[in-house]
Amino acid sequence: MTPDATATRSLHDPEGAMSDHVEPLPDRHGSLFDDADEARASMRDAEQQAGNLGPTNRPMPDFPAPEALSSHGPARVIAMCNQKGGVGKTTTTINLGAALAEYGRKVLLVDFDPQGALSVGLGLRSHELDLSIYNLLIERDHDIREVICPSRTENLDVLPANIDLAAAEVQLVGEVAREMVLARVLRPVLDDYDMILIDCQPSLGLLTVNALTAAHGVLIPLECEFFAMRGVALLVETIEKICDRLNPRLQIDGILATMYDGRTLHSREVVRSVVDHFQDKVFHTVISRTVKFPDATLAAEPITTYAPGHGAAEAYRRLARELIARGCAA
Ligand SMILES: Nc1ncnc2c1ncn2[C@@H]1O[C@H](COP(=O)(O)OP(=O)(O)O)[C@@H](O)[C@H]1O
Ligand SMILES: [Mg+2]
Repeated sequence: MTPDATATRSLHDPEGAMSDHVEPLPDRHGSLFDDADEARASMRDAEQQAGNLGPTNRPMPDFPAPEALSSHGPARVIAMCNQKGGVGKTTTTINLGAALAEYGRKVLLVDFDPQGALSVGLGLRSHELDLSIYNLLIERDHDIREVICPSRTENLDVLPANIDLAAAEVQLVGEVAREMVLARVLRPVLDDYDMILIDCQPSLGLLTVNALTAAHGVLIPLECEFFAMRGVALLVETIEKICDRLNPRLQIDGILATMYDGRTLHSREVVRSVVDHFQDKVFHTVISRTVKFPDATLAAEPITTYAPGHGAAEAYRRLARELIARGCAA
């Protein structure tokens, strides 16, 4: 059977959904998924009260606009993580960050990918910067506040990266507590922000391990296509190991379906099988596929300012509200 045929069959098979092309999930992922019980119970109440089925085939609750914050910090740190490239990590970091900033949250976006797509996507000429996150990781004599750049969006700052960061991965290998370097770098500004979002590179290497060690939660974007789940078991296993050995507070905040096309059976079935597998952990909010995202990247702006009235901007606002309702954001 061809790989495609295998995927098609398993996606059409509600009993063994994805069992053919997904490594079994490790046994003890319970603790990673069991936090914030209270928030999830109230989410279930909200689901029961909601009328319409959402794209995840569950009743779509109405997530209220969050209350304004009267003070800021300490920050909750979320890592956007999936070792697969092109699934929407950078897009989600920028636009979820911008949506939270619109709700008055003070947000720092950390570019933790040597490609520097997040920095460029917010209009920074990252290759021309004198200082980037690389210098903070490798040299100890810099003040992080001198490296952080404001974006054009109010309340939204960026800790930029460029290709120099690729060398850090190698240079950090010999460091003492090499997994905790990013946590140390971020510590001085935790009280300045409500949320810190880390845009991880597409790998499970030392940089990503640093991001997971610095984080309270992980948000996993999954592209709605065959094999979306491939590799997720390995990611969950990595998160568990970090939880056991380096960062016991780490939890999976949620799984976000991206590049969703509700007109295709294909997208709907991928979402259905992801929900079968991860249940409550899947966000009700899904992000549709639209050319507005690459357009906004070209304009070096978040979708929330590039096309503020577009459904895609509203989707990231809804994700921000859902995250707050789940207790995963300030
Ligand atoms: N919902 C979406 N619809 C259409 N294109 C998208 C969407 N999300 C991301 N993209 C585009 O897909 C590409 C990969 O997205 P990106 O966020 O950079 O993924 P990652 O950071 O996981 O590699 C980018 O060109 C981006 O503009
Ligand atoms: Mg990226």
